Amino acid sequence: MDHFTLRDGQLHAEDVALDTIADQVGTPVYVYSQATIERHANVFRDAVTGAGNDAPWISFAVKANPNRAVLSVLAKQGFGADVVSAGELLRAVAAGIPAEKIIFSGVGKTEEEMRIALEHGIGQFNLESEQEAEMLSAVAAAMGTRAPVVYRVNPDVDAGTHAKISTGKSENKFGIPINSAPAAYARAAALPGLKIQGVAVHIGSQLTDLGPLAAAFEKVGTLIATLRADGHAMLVADLGGGLGVPYNPAQPVPPSPAEYGEMVRRVTAGWDIRLAFEPGRLIVANAGVLLSRVVRVKDGAVHPWVIADAAMNDLLRPSLYDAWHDIRGVAPKGTNMVANVVGPVCETGDTFAMAREMDSVDAGDLIAFMTAGAYGATMASTYNSRALTPEVLVSGDRWTVVRARQPLEALIAADTVPDWLAE
Ligand code: LLP
Repeated sequence: MDHFTLRDGQLHAEDVALDTIADQVGTPVYVYSQATIERHANVFRDAVTGAGNDAPWISFAVKANPNRAVLSVLAKQGFGADVVSAGELLRAVAAGIPAEKIIFSGVGKTEEEMRIALEHGIGQFNLESEQEAEMLSAVAAAMGTRAPVVYRVNPDVDAGTHAKISTGKSENKFGIPINSAPAAYARAAALPGLKIQGVAVHIGSQLTDLGPLAAAFEKVGTLIATLRADGHAMLVADLGGGLGVPYNPAQPVPPSPAEYGEMVRRVTAGWDIRLAFEPGRLIVANAGVLLSRVVRVKDGAVHPWVIADAAMNDLLRPSLYDAWHDIRGVAPKGTNMVANVVGPVCETGDTFAMAREMDSVDAGDLIAFMTAGAYGATMASTYNSRALTPEVLVSGDRWTVVRARQPLEALIAADTVPDWLAE
């Protein structure tokens, strides 16, 4: 459920008409609904409450939407953060997320990033290789401390999602093979700078079937028993993120957070462990739209080309994953058209939708790309020397720019031309 609704023929974000934002901030612009973020945070918390032997540790996957305003909303909800770089870590801290609620994931943490994380006293490192364990141990030992760690295990389960966002198969780069985990834990336990506290798993994103998640969790449950028998402290089981959201109203609705929570409770019953979760998309996807203006409508061989002022550099998902985003007229005229919706970037891949049945639009009209709050602005680039997309947060009838449009001058001034080319 989201808070983007038609009122008096105009698409609103909560109580704010989107055309007001477009007029004052310009387009393209991401618009987020605070009430929707809060609602999803509550729905997820309710869904997993009671699972595990302690209050669930819910760490928002910052990569989904790292805007500090968004992170502040979630900090107020008591959420922690799942980060994959020093940049994400510092953003989470800046937004008021306590360091002890931060989990550091990722296959390529550098010594420098490990040091920064240890200085802040984060709650958990999710190790993805034995080489990383050795490096972190050395860094922590040199700082006179022990890093709280778990291994992320790769359960070799097919998540049944897009190949580019599938992470739990043995051929993927993530985690250590679950079968070699007991030996890896034994070696990690002997390292002076580590303190083992549990295990982690994350098999992919935009999962629309609970089966693969349940299969992965079952394997983790067996592993926990083995590792306990081997004498390791198993205090936290981090079950990752990955639950999908509805993008296309014509497709079956993915399992609800409540159904996910029920599955988690069933599979983890008796584990006697605190559960951690790293939801990203589920919390913010439906809380954001990319608002864009139609530059022109050009005749096409079969269907007209609706050329938006947003492009693949603003919302990469359709180009990268053939992702489907609903495209709505901000002031629908009550008639439909079939069109190809594209951006101005000079690539055929700069295509949002082909042969899409949608609200009829003309040049100058506003359109909204729905469900763009996750992996939208954060994946934007300046390709074709287009400024980074600004972002707006709405709460009730209030709204404010939470990331300003980058002036083109700043974009250009970021490069330096060497002396020897100056004359
Ligand atoms: N935890 C870990 C270790 C992850 O790698 C991810 C996402 C998450 C949690 C959050 O997953 P979520 O709950 O959001 O599914 N750019 C792609 C998605 C990449 C996801 C990467 N990892 C997209 O636009 O679909």
